[in-house]
Amino acid sequence: MIAPRILLIIGGGIAAYKACELVRLIRKGGGSVRCVLTEGAQHFVTPMSLAALSEQEVHTSLWDLKNETEMGHIQLSREADLVVVCPATADLMAKMAAGMADDLATTLLLATDKPVLAVPAMNVRMWLHAATQRNVARLRDDGVTVLDPDDGAMACGEFGPGRLPEPPFIWAEIEKLLDKPRSAPAAGIKGGALAGRHVLVTAGPTHEAIDPVRYIANRSSGKQGYAIAEALAALGARVTLVSGPVSLATPAGVHRVDVESAREMAAAVEAALPADVAVMVAAVADWRADTSAGQKIKKDGSGAPPTLSLAENPDILAGLAASPRRPRLLIGFAAETEKVVDHAIAKRARKDADWIVANDVSGDVMGGDSNSVHIVSRDGVESWENLAKAEVATRLAARIADAFS
Ligand code: C5P
Repeated sequence: MIAPRILLIIGGGIAAYKACELVRLIRKGGGSVRCVLTEGAQHFVTPMSLAALSEQEVHTSLWDLKNETEMGHIQLSREADLVVVCPATADLMAKMAAGMADDLATTLLLATDKPVLAVPAMNVRMWLHAATQRNVARLRDDGVTVLDPDDGAMACGEFGPGRLPEPPFIWAEIEKLLDKPRSAPAAGIKGGALAGRHVLVTAGPTHEAIDPVRYIANRSSGKQGYAIAEALAALGARVTLVSGPVSLATPAGVHRVDVESAREMAAAVEAALPADVAVMVAAVADWRADTSAGQKIKKDGSGAPPTLSLAENPDILAGLAASPRRPRLLIGFAAETEKVVDHAIAKRARKDADWIVANDVSGDVMGGDSNSVHIVSRDGVESWENLAKAEVATRLAARIADAFS
């Protein structure tokens, strides 16, 4: 990793003192860091401490003529590789979610074209408040990586989620974000190769409710689909990621729509059209319970288990292939445990997809970090060696860009 440049925006909360430690860790890790303090932050830590630790000028005001002539706020927001908001207070996240720009910190956050990592810290009630949860969901939808706060005793004397994660953990998350291949498209493919294209990606499993507390699911982690969404965004595509329930952060710059069931996924896909390309990576449940009980199903004392009767789910991929709004390039996935290529060839024809990416899931592919895939198209079969899921994603995105060039 080349020396990362971090723009650190410090919000006004008691956890702001930990930002000083984070500055130290970033520098120790070989990075440079420029700090911006909100007005509230200056009540907790001083620009002087941060200037000394970062060995860089610290910025506090939008209306600073000297700073504005030497380095304008737009330039400041763009010269970093990553913008980190730490601590991200409830107020700062509310402003970010609303797109407000009434001070230097929020103006930089609105003006930046770089990935943003927000590290929340606040009182437990403030974190759990519906408004904050709504703002966090909105920010994640907008492509901001929002970490979950730690659980534990808080400075205010209460207990629960809301503590700032420890600085070494935050630094590890920063390294992870910077390591991703977003700025390194495959050889021969230009960064903006998919600029102006809308790509729809589905990812993750679906959950099919049996009753309010039970559901049918599968082992899909969503990792491959998320990596593909990220690689496509890195090539300049506008990406809509329709995601089943997974515990992954939204890739930077990707618009994410969360769904639970196959029928919700079908509706979200329909709502996201038109698209130039669709990459259907989701492991959609083939069946759902034909009726979902309104109340938790109880044992009736007879010893006889209830009967679970299933109904077939809509095939989203086949439906899209047959639709008048069919994307120009329609790509399906096929998870198989035997005769992988044979089944994929038959599936491509049956579902009328342009390509099927077939993978053998008999090992630990589901949830794992690598994948062996075969690309089945009308023209034949191309088999790739076992690769990291991120590399499969980068190559597939490059192949898609190639198809459009
Ligand atoms: O038939 P199978 O589930 O193996 O097909 C896999 C492909 O079809 C994947 O691309 C998956 O996202 C898609 N699919 C779908 N809707 C379903 C079942 C699968 O879009 N109900």
